[in-house]
Amino acid sequence: MMHLLSKIAVNAPSLLAQAEAATPETRELTGTFWLPEGASTLAPGTDFAFMAITWLCYFFFAGIVVALVYFCWKYRQRGTEVVYQADAPVHNTPLEVGWTVLPLLLVVAIFFMGFKGFLDLSTPPRNAYEINVTAYQWGWNFKYPNGATSDHLVVPAAQPVKLVMRSNDVLHSLYIPAFRVKKDVVPGRYSYLWFQCDEPTGIVAEEAMNTTATGYHLFCTEYCGTDHSNMNRKVFVLAEAEFEEWEEQKARWLDVMPDEELYSSAGPKIYARCANCHTIDGGANTGPSWGNPTSGSLAGLGEIWKRTTAGTTPVTGGTKGRPGTTLADYIGEGKLYATTEDYIRASIRNPGELLVGGFGPNMPSFKGQLGDRAIDALIGMMKKLDEFDAAGKFVDSGN
Ligand code: CUA
Repeated sequence: MMHLLSKIAVNAPSLLAQAEAATPETRELTGTFWLPEGASTLAPGTDFAFMAITWLCYFFFAGIVVALVYFCWKYRQRGTEVVYQADAPVHNTPLEVGWTVLPLLLVVAIFFMGFKGFLDLSTPPRNAYEINVTAYQWGWNFKYPNGATSDHLVVPAAQPVKLVMRSNDVLHSLYIPAFRVKKDVVPGRYSYLWFQCDEPTGIVAEEAMNTTATGYHLFCTEYCGTDHSNMNRKVFVLAEAEFEEWEEQKARWLDVMPDEELYSSAGPKIYARCANCHTIDGGANTGPSWGNPTSGSLAGLGEIWKRTTAGTTPVTGGTKGRPGTTLADYIGEGKLYATTEDYIRASIRNPGELLVGGFGPNMPSFKGQLGDRAIDALIGMMKKLDEFDAAGKFVDSGN
C-alpha cells in the first residue's frame, strides 16, 4: 500500500507539469450555423436528420414563395371588369394524388430517420463505461467506478460511455451540444444517456478548466433557479491509458496531499458539500452552524470545536442520546465517544446518534462517501475556523 502511494505521489507532480506544459489547442468554431462540429459517433446520424429536414424546409419555403408571387402577378386584377371563367378546371386526379402521396412518403421517411436515431440514442451498449452523475443546485458531481469524483466530466475515448443521472433537488437537464445528446435529470428517478467520442481532447490543470478552449461544453438546459447558468462545465476526452491514470490519481487526491495542507486545501472543497446546511459565520440553517451561533438553542456557545470540546452543547435526542443531557455526558474516556474527533467522525457517518440543540434528524449519512482523510480535513477546518471566510474559502495561514 505504502509503495503504491509513494508511486502515485511521485507521478502526481509530473502529471500536473504535463498538463501545464501542454498548450491547450485552440479549436476553431467550425460546424454549421446551427450546431458546433459533431464530436461523437452519434453526431453524423443526428446531423443528417437535422440537415435533411432543414433543407427540405428551405426547398419548400422557396418553392411556395416563388409560386405565390408568380400567381399573384399572373392572376392580378386587370381593369375594372371581373371576368369569371365558366369552364375552369375543378379537379385533377393525378395532381391531387401526387401532392398527397409525395409528402406522405417524405414524412414517413423523416419518421423512420428520427425513430431509428431515437432508439440508438436510448439504448446504451452493454459494455458501456458507467459514470454516475448527480445534478444539484447548482453544479454537477461526476463519480467514477473507482470512487473518484470530479466537477467537470472526464471520459475515456473510443469507448461507449453511459451516464447514470439523478438529481438532488429540482429538475435539471444535461446537454453536450458537440455530442448531440441531451436528457432531463428528474428528481426521484434515474435517467440515462450515452455517447462515444473517438478523438481525445486532452485535459488542462483543474484551475484552468473553466476558461480553457480545450474540451467540449456541457450545459444545464432546464432553468433550475438563480445560479442555473453556473452549471456550465467542460467535457474532456482522454485516451484510455491517460484516462486510467487520471482516474487513479483523482481517486487518491486526498492520500497524496501532505497532512499539513489537508485542512486548508482539501477542507474547503469537502466543506462545499456541507455548506447547504451548515454555515461558518454562525448564521441559522438546517443544521448547527460551525461558527458561533447567533440564534437558536446553541446561541453564544462558541464555534463548533470549542463548544464540542467543552461539552456544553445540549443533547435533545437521537438513537443514542437522551433529552436533558449535554455532549459532556457522551465524550471522554470510557464514554460513548473517546474523543471529540471520534464524536465528529460518528456524527458525519451516522448523523442520527445524537441530536443536538433541537435540530431534527435531517442529515444524510456520509458513510462510504467521506473517508478518514476527508473527515480529518473537515475536523482540521473546524479547529482553525478563523482562517476561513464566511463562504468557507481559506484566507489566512494564521498569524
Ligand atoms: Cu440545473 Cu439549470
